[in-house]
Amino acid sequence: MGAGPAGLLLSQLLHLAGIDSVIVENRSREYVIERVRAGILEQGTVDLIREIGAGERLMREGLPHEGIHIRFDGMRHRIDLAALTGGRHITVYGQNELVRDLIGVREATGRPLFFEASDVSVHDFDSARPSIRFQAEGEEQRIACDFIAGCDGFHGVCRQSIPPADLRIYERDFPYAWLGILAQAAPSCDELVYSRHERGFALFSMRSPSVTRLFLQCAPDEDVDQWPDDRIWEELCTRLGTTDGWRPNRGPILLKGVTGMRSFVAEPMRHGRMFLAGDAAHIMPPTGAKGLNLAASDVRNLAAALAGYYRSGGETLLDEYSGKCLSRIWKAQRFSLWMTAMLHNAPGSDAYEGRRQTAELEYLMGSKAAMTSLAENYVGLPMD
Ligand code: APR
Ligand code: PHB
Repeated sequence: MGAGPAGLLLSQLLHLAGIDSVIVENRSREYVIERVRAGILEQGTVDLIREIGAGERLMREGLPHEGIHIRFDGMRHRIDLAALTGGRHITVYGQNELVRDLIGVREATGRPLFFEASDVSVHDFDSARPSIRFQAEGEEQRIACDFIAGCDGFHGVCRQSIPPADLRIYERDFPYAWLGILAQAAPSCDELVYSRHERGFALFSMRSPSVTRLFLQCAPDEDVDQWPDDRIWEELCTRLGTTDGWRPNRGPILLKGVTGMRSFVAEPMRHGRMFLAGDAAHIMPPTGAKGLNLAASDVRNLAAALAGYYRSGGETLLDEYSGKCLSRIWKAQRFSLWMTAMLHNAPGSDAYEGRRQTAELEYLMGSKAAMTSLAENYVGLPMD
C-alpha cells in the first residue's frame, strides 16, 4: 500500500527475490513525482538504491556532501562527516526524483502499480488470507494476498485499520513548524547550513547546482500569505548570514509551504499479516533528515524477512521485524529530537535555555567525541 519511497523500494526488493507484489497508490503519478519532500540520503540508503538497480541517475545527479555547517554566534562551524566516520557521507537528491526513478524501475518489471486508487480498504490481516479492496481504472478491484505492507504514509489507511487497543502510540508535538521555500538560485555554499539564531532556526539546503531549498522556523499555524518573497529573503539572510558576509543567494521562489513538526511512533509494526513501514509507523521532526532513510531501513528488513519466509516457511525474521526496526527508529527519534532542541527557539523559552543551547553548541564544536556522535548519526547508524 503506497507508492512512496517505502512501497517502491520494498516492491523492487521483493521483485529481485522473485516475490510478486501489487502496489496500490491513491494519488496520481504526476502528484507523487512532483511533490517536493525530503532530500538527504544516508550512505546506506544510497547503497540500497544502487543494489536494486535504481541508482543510475542518483549517481549522476546526486550531490555527495562530506560535511555540514552549524551556524551560531554569527559564524559557520564545519563538521567533517567523512573524516569523523571513516569516509561515510550523505547525498543530496530530491525524494521526488528518487520516486520518479523507482516508478521507472517498477514499470520496467511489468508488475502492477495502480495510481489514483480510491475507497482503499484492508481486510482480514489477522487471518492467513488478507485482502485489499479499492476502485481503480473504472472497476472495483480486490486483491487476495499473503501479506499487506502498509507503506501508505502517516495519513494512510493501514495503521488506521488496526484496532486502537492493539497499538501503542508515542507522540510529541512541537510549538513550531518550518516555512520552506524552493528557489531558482545557485547555492552559495556547497554544503548544508543549520542555524541557531535568536529569531529562530533556519536551514540552508539545496536540490541541484541551480536550486536552493531553505527553511525558517515559524509558528505551527503560520499563514504563508503573510510571507511575501522579500520578507522571506530578509529573514533568511538575518538568520543564516554570518559576520564574514556569507548569505544565501536570492532568486525567484518556485514554491512556499509550511511543514509541521511532530514525533510519532506506533508499536508494534506487525499486526498478523500486515506490516507497517516508513511514515505509516513513525515520523519525526525533519531536523535530522531521517524520515526517508528510516523508510529505507524498514523495508530492507521487511524484504529480507519475507524472502526468508518464502524460502523456508519460517516466520522467525517476520517475528523479529518490528523489534529490529524499532531499535533503529528510536535512535533516530532521539537524534532528531536532540538536533531540534539544540537549534530551535521555543516560544516563551527563557534566557537560561538560550545559554544552555549555546553551551551545547560550543561543546559540540569543541569536542571530537561530540562531533563524531553527531556525524555517525547524521550519515546513518548501521542498517543491520
Ligand atoms: N491508499 C493508497 N496509498 C495511500 C493511501 C491510501 N489510503 N494513503 C496514502 N497513500 C500513499 C501516499 O499518497 C504516498 O504516496 O502512500 C504513500 C506514502 O508515501 P510517503 O508519505 O512518502 O511515506 P514513505 O514511503 O514511508 O516515505 C518516507 O520520509 O522524508 C520522509 O515524510 C517523508 O515521505 C517521506 C517519508
Ligand atoms: C531538505 O533539503 O529538504 C532537508 C535537508 C536537511 C534537513 C531537512 C530537510 O534536515
